[in-house]
Amino acid sequence: MGLDGSRFLRACRREEVDRPPVWFMRQAGRYLPEYLALRRGRTFMESARDPAHCAAITLQPVTRFGVDAAILFADIMSPLDGVALPFEISAGVGPVIASPVCTLAAVRALSRFAASEMAYLGDAIGRIKAALGAETPLIGFAGAPFTMACYLIEGRGSRDFLSARRLLHDAPEFWHALMQWLSEMTIDYLRFQVESGVDALQLFDSWVGLVSPGDYRRAVFPYMRSIGSAVASWGVPLIHFGAGCSGLLELMAEAAGDVVGVDWRVELGEAWQRIGWERGIQGNLDPSVLLASPEVIRGKVAEVLRAADGRRGHIFNVGHGLSPQTPPEHVACAVAAVRAWQA
Ligand code: CP3
Repeated sequence: MGLDGSRFLRACRREEVDRPPVWFMRQAGRYLPEYLALRRGRTFMESARDPAHCAAITLQPVTRFGVDAAILFADIMSPLDGVALPFEISAGVGPVIASPVCTLAAVRALSRFAASEMAYLGDAIGRIKAALGAETPLIGFAGAPFTMACYLIEGRGSRDFLSARRLLHDAPEFWHALMQWLSEMTIDYLRFQVESGVDALQLFDSWVGLVSPGDYRRAVFPYMRSIGSAVASWGVPLIHFGAGCSGLLELMAEAAGDVVGVDWRVELGEAWQRIGWERGIQGNLDPSVLLASPEVIRGKVAEVLRAADGRRGHIFNVGHGLSPQTPPEHVACAVAAVRAWQA
């Protein structure tokens, strides 16, 4: 068949497919017993920086469920290894950055991304590609500049990222310098993943739903546009995901991506109309549905597929990452329901 003929890459290009491809954000993770077994006694980044572990974890959901794409096991903080900014992924907390970046002087002191500092990831990508063969594509990814700025400024997760949003309003010179540095770093990091062999890319702008459309246009859009143009020139499909973004969909679609990833707070058919039929759409099952009974899961999967109406360019996914409480059999049930779908 060859990778170019794969359901996932064909859907990214809005070509005809036999059925929508399916994969899940956070498909490798704590809900899988085989993941917990491999992670035992190791921190998240110890596993992520070990090419054999990273490859094994990436492949677990492909082996178990036969999903139509693999996603590289890493975190949105991973490229900080390439700029020598120390961080940890702390159990139950998430990213923690040793020295948050809150001043213009701190931005000016940041160094340029060096792929040589992330040889482990290139090695992992090579191993994963060899194991996947010509059947299943591998998605690389990065956090988008706004979401990365939230963590760099606050130093850790937050419900509302108020300090970051205050600086967006109150310190324009700082904000633009940080976003400029982040977008260059992101382009370098994504290019490194493509040169190492990934077949498609996703940008996670998980928290950008916190900003108003006017602020998005001024303080986020230009940076997304420059990443989107760079990726487009490489000829690799790009998925642009945001959560809680129903007020921003047109702007996000205009800024970057062949495919826009949406969550369940917006009806999929309506979202698609707004982003334009010339783009693909990814989503948008509420991940909490996967905690419900198999019968409910089949019904809700059908609802998403009906909203997509068999149009070319739909990639079935959850609207945000799977939660650690998800029973793996329920993920298998959703995959089976997508496979069995007849429009
Ligand atoms: O999707 C995948 O399977 C690929 C792996 C992946 C991880 N993080 C692994 C991970 C991806 C794509 C991410 C992206 C990521 N990381 C995002 C964007 C997507 C989203 O969910 O919005 C964000 C915001 C982060 C930052 C981050 N890392 C958070 C908020 C957390 C969770 C904290 C917690 O403990 O609940 C992490 C840790 C993390 N990254 C885990 C995994 C599997 C869980 C921790 C662990 O397994 O030890």
